[in-house]
Amino acid sequence: MARGRFITFEGIDGAGKTTHLAWFREQLEHKLAAGGRTVVMTREPGGTPLGESLRDLLLHEQMDLETEALLMFAARREHLARVIEPALARGDWVLSDRFSDATFAYQGGGRGLPRDKLETLERWVQGGFQPDLTILFDIAPDTASERRGAAREPDRFESETDAFFTRTRAEYLRRAEEAPYRFAIVDSSQSIDGIRAKLEQIIATL
Ligand code: TYD
Repeated sequence: MARGRFITFEGIDGAGKTTHLAWFREQLEHKLAAGGRTVVMTREPGGTPLGESLRDLLLHEQMDLETEALLMFAARREHLARVIEPALARGDWVLSDRFSDATFAYQGGGRGLPRDKLETLERWVQGGFQPDLTILFDIAPDTASERRGAAREPDRFESETDAFFTRTRAEYLRRAEEAPYRFAIVDSSQSIDGIRAKLEQIIATL
């Protein structure tokens, strides 16, 4: 069977990514089942037992910014080696809730880690590997913060300011501009139906 495809979902906290991802997964599973292909759903940080332990630390422990970026990429290396690469080689399609664009957006844009350091880590951990498609849920930070509301106890990232998410969003959009061939930007301020229609168009192109 031909190699599978790797699709990532990105956006600032409160963009609605997780909800839309669940729906996208169902649609894709339905379409791919006929061809005997499996959809593997995963997330970052996380996706492996070690990665999930690192996620817990990353979301809740105070740490130096460089430590944070290194742990994101360490978890990613494990994720690539144990889950993503084997699945694609089997012919499965992999959907990941976040990948390296999130590190550029959050640790780079949001927290200000110089981009060249992140590019070095990206080359080390991924070689030239990039998603086949990245769906970016784009939304204004003030709308996203209203949506996050008081839903639950916020983690270290969810409790960040609108100014942080303004920088994070700008870096996502810069990454999209740099690699337009792999990015699809979805306006996340639309109604759920509007977003689903856009996702259906994206699925049709696959
Ligand atoms: P998120 O994907 O929003 O999951 P949930 O919907 O369960 O809250 O949470 C992961 C958080 O980790 C998110 O706030 C962004 C952050 N993050 C980074 O800062 N850098 C990264 O490289 C990744 C993958 C995530």
